[in-house]
Amino acid sequence: MNESSEHRTSRRAFLAKGAAAGALTLGAGRLLIETPAALAGQALPAGDAAILKFLAAAELLEADLWKQYNELGGVQDGEVAGGSGNRAYTKALAVIDKDMHQYIHDNADDEQSHANFINSYLQARGEQPIDLDPFRTLPSSEATGAAQIGRLTNLMELTVDTSYWSRYRSDSKNPDLGDTLPQAVPGLASGKFPAIPRSDDDLRPRKHLQAIANTAAFHFGMIEQGGSSLYAGLAQRATDPEVLRILLSIGPTEVMHFQTWQDKAGNAPALTDPTNGLVFPDLNGGGEDVKPNRIMPEPTVFLDRKLAICSILRPTETVGAALGAVKGLAASGLFTGQSQEFFSAATALAKAADAATRS
Ligand SMILES: [Fe+2]
Ligand SMILES: [Fe+2]
Repeated sequence: MNESSEHRTSRRAFLAKGAAAGALTLGAGRLLIETPAALAGQALPAGDAAILKFLAAAELLEADLWKQYNELGGVQDGEVAGGSGNRAYTKALAVIDKDMHQYIHDNADDEQSHANFINSYLQARGEQPIDLDPFRTLPSSEATGAAQIGRLTNLMELTVDTSYWSRYRSDSKNPDLGDTLPQAVPGLASGKFPAIPRSDDDLRPRKHLQAIANTAAFHFGMIEQGGSSLYAGLAQRATDPEVLRILLSIGPTEVMHFQTWQDKAGNAPALTDPTNGLVFPDLNGGGEDVKPNRIMPEPTVFLDRKLAICSILRPTETVGAALGAVKGLAASGLFTGQSQEFFSAATALAKAADAATRS
């Protein structure tokens, strides 16, 4: 028997076995592979619907900010359309890693898929999808390469909390146990800085543009570690196994993003922005809690200080996880310029998600 006929035979045998298995399971009155609940059109538990609606909104916001980064510093193509790229900004990002444009594109693509999937799932289970289009009121960057459309998020006045950096490098602290951790880039956490060029005036001097690219690099990590914690926090209150599967399948992709970005941000060159004095310190000279190459999550205290330390995601507290995310993003300046209606809608979605209980 030659290789191809052997292959055909084993395929026939496999099909026969599959048919037999199908007959057996049908005979037993149940399907071997159960129809997904979404396709069966079963109603969602109210708490699960609230969790998914909040996550749909969060993903739409993520998709909006990543699209802005992609227009100027990513890859503009059929997958992530819009904009035409800004050469100088893309070059400044490439100082951090020559593949930054690809990572930005792929992160943008992922977020849009998260938003689209969760909304399509909500609809499949008889719920209203989340539509934030009425809130696309914020201006675009005027720099060469940005599309001129309304935005949900503002990347031009950011206060970036960089404590996530030391949080994942500490072996004795955890925000879930009430600890606060030091900033990797203290200047970024206390002022307001653009993470994309606001106009072509921001393309020089060179160190100013590099500071903008560095700001973006640390903002990428901030956003994605927030998403990582958010999914882990909310998953603890999902009831329907399929909803839990969705949260456990999407959440770790946020972790993959975070891990990539915190590795990349470690390459951001130390410098002082000559236009505003923003300092990016040399993290190699700042001790173990900020050392760039310590990208694996350091084991730390978890649940109770009496237990053994453990390498974990942090924070993962479920109480107030959604509202905490909204407040954190608002404090970062991401929604600067948004309407009161936007804040009310985001807060209402977060409160409903935080009211969900596992039943
Ligand atoms: Fe996402
Ligand atoms: Fe994300």
